Amino acid sequence: MHASTAPWWRDAVFYEIYIRSFADGNGDGVGDLLGVRSRLQYLCDLGVDAIWLTPFYTSPMADHGYDVADYRAVDPLFGDLAQIDALLAAARERGLRVIVDLVPNHTSDQHEWFREALAAGPRSPERERYMFRPGRGASGELPPNNWTSRFGGPAWERVTEPDGQPGEWYLHLFAPEQPDLNWRNPEVVEEFDDVLRFWLDRGVDGFRIDVAHGLFKEPGLPDTENGLHPSMLGYVGPSPMWNQPEVHGVYRRWRRILDSYDDSRMAVAEAWAQDSEDLARYVRPDELNQAFNFAFLQAPWSAAALRDVVNESIQATAGVGAATTWVLSNHDVARHVTRYGDGELGRRRARAALLFMLALPGSVYLYQGEELGLPEVADLPEEALADPIWERSGHTERGRDGCRVPLPWSGTQPPYGFTSEDVQPWLPMPECWSTLTVAAQSEDPDSMLSLYRTALRARKDHPALGNGTLHWLEACRDGWSGGESGTQGPHALAFAREPGLVCAINCGDTPVALPEHQGMLLASEHLDNDKLPPNTAVWLTR
Ligand code: BGC
Repeated sequence: MHASTAPWWRDAVFYEIYIRSFADGNGDGVGDLLGVRSRLQYLCDLGVDAIWLTPFYTSPMADHGYDVADYRAVDPLFGDLAQIDALLAAARERGLRVIVDLVPNHTSDQHEWFREALAAGPRSPERERYMFRPGRGASGELPPNNWTSRFGGPAWERVTEPDGQPGEWYLHLFAPEQPDLNWRNPEVVEEFDDVLRFWLDRGVDGFRIDVAHGLFKEPGLPDTENGLHPSMLGYVGPSPMWNQPEVHGVYRRWRRILDSYDDSRMAVAEAWAQDSEDLARYVRPDELNQAFNFAFLQAPWSAAALRDVVNESIQATAGVGAATTWVLSNHDVARHVTRYGDGELGRRRARAALLFMLALPGSVYLYQGEELGLPEVADLPEEALADPIWERSGHTERGRDGCRVPLPWSGTQPPYGFTSEDVQPWLPMPECWSTLTVAAQSEDPDSMLSLYRTALRARKDHPALGNGTLHWLEACRDGWSGGESGTQGPHALAFAREPGLVCAINCGDTPVALPEHQGMLLASEHLDNDKLPPNTAVWLTR
């Protein structure tokens, strides 16, 4: 698709703001909307096109906002509706798009609907909005099936009925404070149509759809063979809980709503599917616009694995005419600097991965703090752990707090400008982050932040980057030559983008020759003459 006619999101760089941990504007130790607004210039200087805000709605915060009690109101912890309006206006002024998280699989147990359902009792229309079922066993004392929650423990909770007796059970694929909605009830469908319109009318550019593969459960709620699905993310095989065919009807409906607004509004699915083809069903021409490409995030550090995942992803999305997306980190997974290896090795690979990812056709999702090279904080004290996974797993899984530690902005000690000096941030910040702050890295041309800024600018400026196609170059004895699908060197990859750009990456531990080129645009490390050092990527002109 030609750059000038393609909708903005097809090659946009999105930046995920995990709102609790981005910037604290009111000095209570928790990030908020005021904090986001005060740092918009930072995001413009970084060079991103859009931000994705994680949930800021009214919530008891059992899962830090992914348990929504009111979809049309802002939690006082984060601000109010006027703050959101001010943020949207300030972002628009700077040409930044804003998408917001939508959580349709479950509500909070404090949502008005759930409270009404508890009060109304069995077989009432109020209960029909959720997944209530009688228990098994002589007196209903056993859960309706063997499903377990993604956060650990059973996926069912028994309620006390209005008459004081133990009664029905309700389904929660996540925490008990997150009851699953019944998407076969038209009232639920209509309610979310309305929620979408509420935010689109306020001016958001789109939505990130939480647990997009989960809304429908197989009728009859059959036991699963292996009941237990303890890990938070990742595909778990065909399952009565996920990827039911009816979800696509909802996304067709939402696409019609999005398309009824001007200015190409969009939605991106957080969906875990069996493979790229399965995932591509979520982005058929009349469904959602994008889906996160978790296969890329999960690819091991190997040239062969990266090439395969790139080919499969491009092929699957091309089959349905959708844009491919690329992502390395988010608020649910260990930070990629740490996943790629300890210390310097992880840092080098993360720098190389960035240049590789930004040169691929499609759009990119960055997670706050990756531009600072923040590592996973694996040694948070147990008493500080706040992820529901920690409690639900009976203290066997630490959960996701390690990638949610607040951003260090400035200064030499915690809280590094994240909140007021004498305030404790909601998660403790490491003592050793003084060289990782935005202020420190802004001064250093070799820092991770400088690389992100330079690379994002170059991506915007170079006509070959963003939308388009790639073709791989194959390694031959004397270097690299064009080839359709030829064999790449075992540890290095190179591909060309037209006009005139080549990206090469060396995932191995010995230097390789650079592909033929005229000049060098950008490299993730200093080059060694005409060799590409280990764990390094480069953008060349030719
Ligand atoms: C979100 C998680 C959240 C879960 C339940 C996920 O997909 O990204 O952070 O805990 O959905 O809403």
